[in-house]
Amino acid sequence: QLAAAVVPAAGRGERLGPGAPKALRELGGVPLLVHAVRALARSRAVGLVVVAAPPQGVAEVAALLDSHGLDGKDVKVVAGGATRQESVRLGLAAIPAETEVVLVHDAARPLVPVEVVDAVAAAVRAGAGAVVPAVPLADTVKRVEPQPAGAPEPVLETPDRSALRAVQTPQGFRRAALAEAHEKALDGEAQVTDDAGLIEHFGGRVVVVPGHEEAFKVTRPLDLVLAEAVLARRRA
Ligand code: C5P
Repeated sequence: QLAAAVVPAAGRGERLGPGAPKALRELGGVPLLVHAVRALARSRAVGLVVVAAPPQGVAEVAALLDSHGLDGKDVKVVAGGATRQESVRLGLAAIPAETEVVLVHDAARPLVPVEVVDAVAAAVRAGAGAVVPAVPLADTVKRVEPQPAGAPEPVLETPDRSALRAVQTPQGFRRAALAEAHEKALDGEAQVTDDAGLIEHFGGRVVVVPGHEEAFKVTRPLDLVLAEAVLARRRA
């Protein structure tokens, strides 16, 4: 049975600068979202892709995806929410209940190699409940006491870098477990920045598999410059 993928794509992307919603910004003349959906659709492990679009842009996003060939995979577009977490929950609700494996992939990671998608889906299929791709950190990281912008921030500690990982997407899960975690999170204040974080919050086990440097998230203007260069190198 094939996996379904949820793509939260309802963010405004303010850190990228003014303009269209982030998922619709172009990379090599094609919206980030189309790259991301294609990267998932290319995987033989994936049968359905559900996109959580900006609520006022559902028809536009559906037409956009329709106009690009997506390897004959099913694509559904639903309205996303006010937070990434809510967008994922709404996307999960559109997946058939008999689906066993679900992947959650940020629209903002347009260049994830298909090998990462395949590896995450395979790890879930092999029995892991929650799987996240991740890479070692290049920078040393310090935990600080946050201060108003610009003010010096006291350092509290420097975690051992060799045990830290920067996590990417797609993250893979047993669908029922992820859907349950999202429903439970509705009653509490569990607010996390990735889906595996929700599983951890409720005491579940999460494992990390190797990610890829090209699965980086397009967040700031410099990331778009890098993404254009990676794409140009692939097309060369
Ligand atoms: O803001 P950030 O870069 O962490 O967003 C990660 C992903 O979550 C992006 O693909 C963005 O479109 C999505 N998102 C969403 N709904 C929101 C906020 C972010 O689907 N309300």
